[in-house]
Amino acid sequence: MDNQSRRSFLKKGLIAGSVMLAPGTLLNMTNAQSLSQKEKVRIGVVGPGSRGAHLIRLINSVREKENIEVVAICDIYEPSIKHALSLVPDAKVFRDYRSMLEMKDLHAIIVATPLHEHAKSTVDALNNGIHVFCEKAMALTLDDTYAMAEAHFRTGNILHIGHQRLFDPKFLKGMNRIHNGDLGIVTQIRAYWHRNNNWRRPVPADNPELERFINWRLYREYSLGLMTELASHHIQVANWAKKSLPVAVRGAGSISYWKDGREVEDNVALIYSYADGTQFIYDSMIQNKKYGLEVQVMGDKGTIELESNRLFKEEPPTPPKPAGIVQLIQNINEGVFGAVSIGSSSWDAELASTYTGDPVVANDTTDGTLEQLIAFADSVREGKPVPGLFEQGYYGSVWTLLGQEAIDTGKVITMPENLSLF
Ligand SMILES: NC(=O)c1ccc[n+]([C@@H]2O[C@H](COP(=O)([O-])OP(=O)(O)OC[C@H]3O[C@@H](n4cnc5c(N)ncnc54)[C@H](O)[C@@H]3O)[C@@H](O)[C@H]2O)c1
Repeated sequence: MDNQSRRSFLKKGLIAGSVMLAPGTLLNMTNAQSLSQKEKVRIGVVGPGSRGAHLIRLINSVREKENIEVVAICDIYEPSIKHALSLVPDAKVFRDYRSMLEMKDLHAIIVATPLHEHAKSTVDALNNGIHVFCEKAMALTLDDTYAMAEAHFRTGNILHIGHQRLFDPKFLKGMNRIHNGDLGIVTQIRAYWHRNNNWRRPVPADNPELERFINWRLYREYSLGLMTELASHHIQVANWAKKSLPVAVRGAGSISYWKDGREVEDNVALIYSYADGTQFIYDSMIQNKKYGLEVQVMGDKGTIELESNRLFKEEPPTPPKPAGIVQLIQNINEGVFGAVSIGSSSWDAELASTYTGDPVVANDTTDGTLEQLIAFADSVREGKPVPGLFEQGYYGSVWTLLGQEAIDTGKVITMPENLSLF
């Protein structure tokens, strides 16, 4: 695909799959300032740690072709600054994002700080006329999530949430197949994310007080662990597949294995219910990795496993019948002509089909992150968001936080009306 058709494919895919597009109370957007088509998109990265550095590398890989450049970085941790400068040596360095927002000709920032820091820099940037690409999940609290949405709609500046599956060709094509009815009626979605490690990062031996700063994912002051860091991706995908939002969530979670002082669960299980009766069953743990990660969308005519790029028809294609003599030999081997058994078992176990399905896309070469960054730069240049994209990120984050509330309270949780954008 050339650049132009890839872009229009992505946009169509997103529009077709967006949760809702009706205008509502917050939807009062004026288009932000656009740039000339030739102008370089100048980006600052707040929090160039592990993910931020990865995004910088991706931008560097298309810097000339897409005319985008990381011109500034902001961090409060010297090793992160040093590493980021090895990737973008000419970038201006800031230690407070507010000074970065004053930089002349800065068009956009990427927010890749720990979760509890997302909202402040995002809202301040939007209020300063700067577009934002903010990593998922949006925020640690529902209030912060809503404040980010409010700033986006009030200012008209772009807020792009880092859900790269929305730009991954196998998810886009898979969603087309789901929405075109190729799986029949979808009534169940299962997703899981399993790892087998303690999720800890090494803390410098001479600086043990950095534990909470470096391992922020493990503490409730900064993160909700498995829910915000992993589940948020698949919750967004389930809503996208259903083109609607859940009506309720129930869940349970525990620290069942890594009893090492962490405050977030290492084992969670939830059920999100949709109005049409669909159940989305999600679980995540970090003490067994056999099943890895997957999203299985199941209808009466087929199943898609989106992460592994496979589509399975409910009735596998039957192989052509072998010729007469071959069939006779097979029948003998299969015991078709054997004695009729007396007292055999009254049922056969319903084992999973061994049919391996078909690929959804022929070449599965990207996870969508680069495509999402390019789409963000296009949006900044045009001064227009990709339709439906923000809503995907917003409701993905809201239902992630509501899932955590279900785990914490043991209650069935519904979405408060004041969180609705429409
Ligand atoms: N989309 C994805 O698949 C994906 C993958 C990994 C991480 N993420 C997200 O990216 C974000 C960062 O994750 P990470 O693994 O890179 O974390 P990290 O800890 O490696 O990096 C965070 C960086 O932010 C810096 N930082 C902390 N407070 C700051 C502040 N006040 N101002 C400026 N910099 C500050 C830290 O020093 C560090 O360099 C998280 O929101 C995470 O959920 C997304």
